[in-house]
Parts: sequence; C-alpha cells; structure tokens
Amino acid sequence: GTGTRYEAENATISQGAVESNHAGHSGTGFVNGDNVAGSYIEWTVTGSAGGLAGAATLRVRYANGTTANRQATIAVNGATVVRDFPGTGAWTTWTTLTLPVTLNAGNNTVRITANTANGNPNLDYIEVAQ
Ligand code: GCU
Repeated sequence: GTGTRYEAENATISQGAVESNHAGHSGTGFVNGDNVAGSYIEWTVTGSAGGLAGAATLRVRYANGTTANRQATIAVNGATVVRDFPGTGAWTTWTTLTLPVTLNAGNNTVRITANTANGNPNLDYIEVAQ
C-alpha cells in the first residue's frame, strides 16, 4: 500500500528549519537541515497496537539541488544503515529513496542524520508501508 506519511515539518529537528520556498513538497513545507555533519530529523512512527511489527518499507522523499551526494545515516530504533542522497537536479525536483526496515509494535523512531559537512538533503517526508 501507500503507507502512512509522516511530514518532516512535524518531526523533531536538530539543526535545521522548516521552509517552503521550493515547490513540489508535500504538506506545508520541508526541512532544510543545517549544512553540518550531525544535523538530523527524527520521526516517531506509531502504529495501532501490533500494527507495525515486522518487516516494512520506508520511503524517504528528498531533494538535493547540488551535484554532491549527501550521504546520511538512517537509524530505525537505533539500527543504522548508510544511504546515498545524490543530486536530484534541482531543489524543486523531489525523489523517493526506498529501503527495507524492521519495526516494532507501537512507537518506533526513525532518525536521518547528515554524514557530511553539506548536511542532509532537503527532506519532505517519510512513509512507512507494509
Ligand atoms: C540552498 C537551498 C536550500 C538548501 C540549501 C542546502 O540554500 O535553497 O533549500 O537546503 O541550499 O545546500 O542545503
């Protein structure tokens, strides 16, 4: 299915700001993380009781208007994977990255942390689907 969407502008932001100046985002905006390593966004993904336990698909919608890959660490309940967020051609061109994750029933945390001094790409939302 399409899953449940969690907008970045509703998440916890460490070093960054909600902005809306680049068209094509979902919701009221996106998060422009500061251009520093370690800046992050953290979402709490909460299902109905038992509803999210097990294998799921995580989608991350982003834009990177530069030509530099903005590698980031994606942590799901602390379990980390590193993913590339290559340039999308423009800040108004949004792309979705997909990865498999394992979720617990109830609350789960999803954190995307910038690994390079360029920071994260602009992040629009995450979706969780099973
Ligand atoms: C530009 C762009 C921002 C983006 C930033 C960046 O300033 O307008 O939306 O976040 O570059 O390099 O991260």
